[in-house]
Amino acid sequence: MQLRQFSLPFLCFLLCLHQTLFAQPTRVREDFDKNWTFHLGEAERPQSVSFNDASWRKLNLPHDWSIELPFDSTSPTGTGGGALRGGLGWYRKTFTLPATDKGKNIFIDFDGVYCNSEVFINGHSFGVRPNGYISFRYDLTSFLKYGGEKNVIVVKVDNSKQPNSRWYSGSGIYRNVWLVKTNSIYVDNWGTYITTPKVSASSATVNISTDILGTGGYADITTTIVNAAGKPVASQTQKNIHIGALQTAKQVFNIQAPVLWSLENPYLYKAVTKITSNGKLLDQYTTPFGIRYFNFDVDKGFSLNGKKVKIVGVCNHHDLGCLGTAINTRALERQLQIMKDMGVNGIRTSHNPPAPELLDLCDKMGFIVMDETFDMWKRSKTQYDYSNDFDEWYKKDLTDHILRDRNHPSVFIWSVGNEIPEQGGKKGDSSGIMYLREMQQIVRKLDTRPTVTANNHVQSWNQLLKSDINDLIGYNYHHNDWHPDSVQKTWGRKPFIVTESVSALQSRGHYDMPSDSMRIWPKRWDLPVDNANADLTCSAYENCFTPWGSSHLATLRMFLKHESISGMYVWTGFDYMGEPTPYPWPARSSYFGIVDLAGFPKDVYYLYQSLFTTKNVLHLFPHWNWQPSQTIDMWAYYNNADEVELFINGRSQGVKKKSGDELYVMWRVQYEAGKVEAVSRKGGKVVASKLIKTAGAPAKIIVQADRSTIKADGKDLSFVTVKVVDKDGNLVPDAANRIKFKIAGSGFIAGVDNGCQTNLESFKAGNVKAFNGLALAVVQSNGKPGSIKLQAQSAGLLPAAIDIIVK
Ligand code: GAL
Repeated sequence: MQLRQFSLPFLCFLLCLHQTLFAQPTRVREDFDKNWTFHLGEAERPQSVSFNDASWRKLNLPHDWSIELPFDSTSPTGTGGGALRGGLGWYRKTFTLPATDKGKNIFIDFDGVYCNSEVFINGHSFGVRPNGYISFRYDLTSFLKYGGEKNVIVVKVDNSKQPNSRWYSGSGIYRNVWLVKTNSIYVDNWGTYITTPKVSASSATVNISTDILGTGGYADITTTIVNAAGKPVASQTQKNIHIGALQTAKQVFNIQAPVLWSLENPYLYKAVTKITSNGKLLDQYTTPFGIRYFNFDVDKGFSLNGKKVKIVGVCNHHDLGCLGTAINTRALERQLQIMKDMGVNGIRTSHNPPAPELLDLCDKMGFIVMDETFDMWKRSKTQYDYSNDFDEWYKKDLTDHILRDRNHPSVFIWSVGNEIPEQGGKKGDSSGIMYLREMQQIVRKLDTRPTVTANNHVQSWNQLLKSDINDLIGYNYHHNDWHPDSVQKTWGRKPFIVTESVSALQSRGHYDMPSDSMRIWPKRWDLPVDNANADLTCSAYENCFTPWGSSHLATLRMFLKHESISGMYVWTGFDYMGEPTPYPWPARSSYFGIVDLAGFPKDVYYLYQSLFTTKNVLHLFPHWNWQPSQTIDMWAYYNNADEVELFINGRSQGVKKKSGDELYVMWRVQYEAGKVEAVSRKGGKVVASKLIKTAGAPAKIIVQADRSTIKADGKDLSFVTVKVVDKDGNLVPDAANRIKFKIAGSGFIAGVDNGCQTNLESFKAGNVKAFNGLALAVVQSNGKPGSIKLQAQSAGLLPAAIDIIVK
């Protein structure tokens, strides 16, 4: 065959075709979650390659083994740890690599393993990584076999020393795992750093530094900035860079008329880095980023892109209720959506580095994140916690945390510690200053964002605040001390933020009368709670909170008063597993949430919504099922209206309006069966109304899915709310009927819950009792397209069913 017979365009076409068909991808990042085996407990040298794991359980990651265990009053994790056991677990995975992978660098990335993980590849150990929240990478390259020979990766997870956490930690490889393959010249792990030092409406300077690793030779680096529509807006090439062990390329861009990242429009650009040598593409690496500027001002608080924003944040722990800590992106997204709908614009990752997916979501959805690293330093909070590893690991863990998270536009503040015992005592312990100085230096070398510590001691003897090392003054609680004069008198003129607040205690749908009788629990840790409710509930009026905290109302009133308060992070957005203050066993999950563990809002959710959203809110509570003539306090949270009028069976109970710094209205009324209705008016016109009827006996079930179509990816979820209603469809406010689920088709039940803090039944059972009328089933795709039918039944009630499309 003679080449000259072909035209030039045809030859080009053949060349392109060859490149497309036979080109090696430059970088591969594979989901490495599938096909692991798992064993709970000791085994005879399972790290050895020849170990036979045929009898072990087969599973896909992410996996939290603790959530599968029964609640246990004797668990050494204590109720603080959710009364679920930790223990020792082993994971194994056998895999092969094609011969064509030889010569590549092959890494394994763990987003998080709780805790004390030790990873073995083909019998070689990388040593122990104690921190259960940190992301880490190992270079597998020199230990691997290719061309169909078997490789065995083994992960030992040791969460057996207990207690080691003040909340439910979960156990296992509970975050995602990735296998990354690169050529010999490549962008390092977390190897880009993007800052936007000068930003205005007309232009932005974007600095991008890229760490390139390799084993010699020369390469060109091209970085292209691509806007959200996928259009390149700037590009630069640096030619002939000598790649030694490590080379950092620094590029400066100017973006005209940038679209700024904001809470309303969280606009993301991408930096696409390409490394080429002799025209051959060696690596391609993408970094999403945002362009925005912000400021913390001592007098005016926080501003984003020049506009004042009061940070209305929540603290959350990392569990996902009945799913445990096994990360699921949809479950996280749902939590954030529920928060956003309430008016929340900030998230604190208390008290540890979060799953990377949380920050990706916060970037896309628009949240102001306080990204926290530690709950303790050298001095412990529980016997076997991270304090034991602190000296050896804190510099590395903090460095890795910052390197991983510093390109996220949603991250605004680094918190290097929560309620650190080294705040010092009245006697003047100053050991924390050394650590704090060291950490500030680490952060400053890596990033420009402000740092903070979350301080529960705000007296002038606090060594951390006194040292003046952090950029922000952070208070946990002490709402009566937030006046700028008081803060500045003690600490000078430094921006102020409330790192944690409130700690109110509430059970959804439970009310202790009268609503102005205060339950400040626990008075003392060493004594049982006096006047405890026999059913271990806490009142969902604003009358139950901890002595160090306050009602939401009291804290909010102070928060709204002072411009100098940059923001606050309320303890907590969601109830979480563990820390069931103020109660002992059988309470096993917290009462602090604005939303319960199942994701059902408590009444106070609507207080925030009325204050911090533009939605028309009129929330009337409690329910209308009481004893004849019982005195009941009817509360309403409302906005966008001048007044609210209450009617009982059509008779007015009077018109009320919020005055001064009041945030709600209340009527003290006599109960009579029938209906209660609130009507809000603006300028004499009705803007909203809310009707509650006395419910009859439970008669039927209603099911509602948050999404009726989900992805067939084996991970996506539909959250199905179950309501127990009377024959007319009114929610039965104390219904506790047992709901049994049947599921068929392309899915399974990943968990069930009802939001009750003392429910000791398994989240993995196919049935659950309603709690105050509600229950939840979480339905997960099994990876196959099709549909799912979920049926909910209960003895004596009309059943209900729902279809979910999976595609
Ligand atoms: C805070 C602490 C939180 C949580 C909370 C409960 O002092 O920072 O982690 O324990 O109390 O009120």
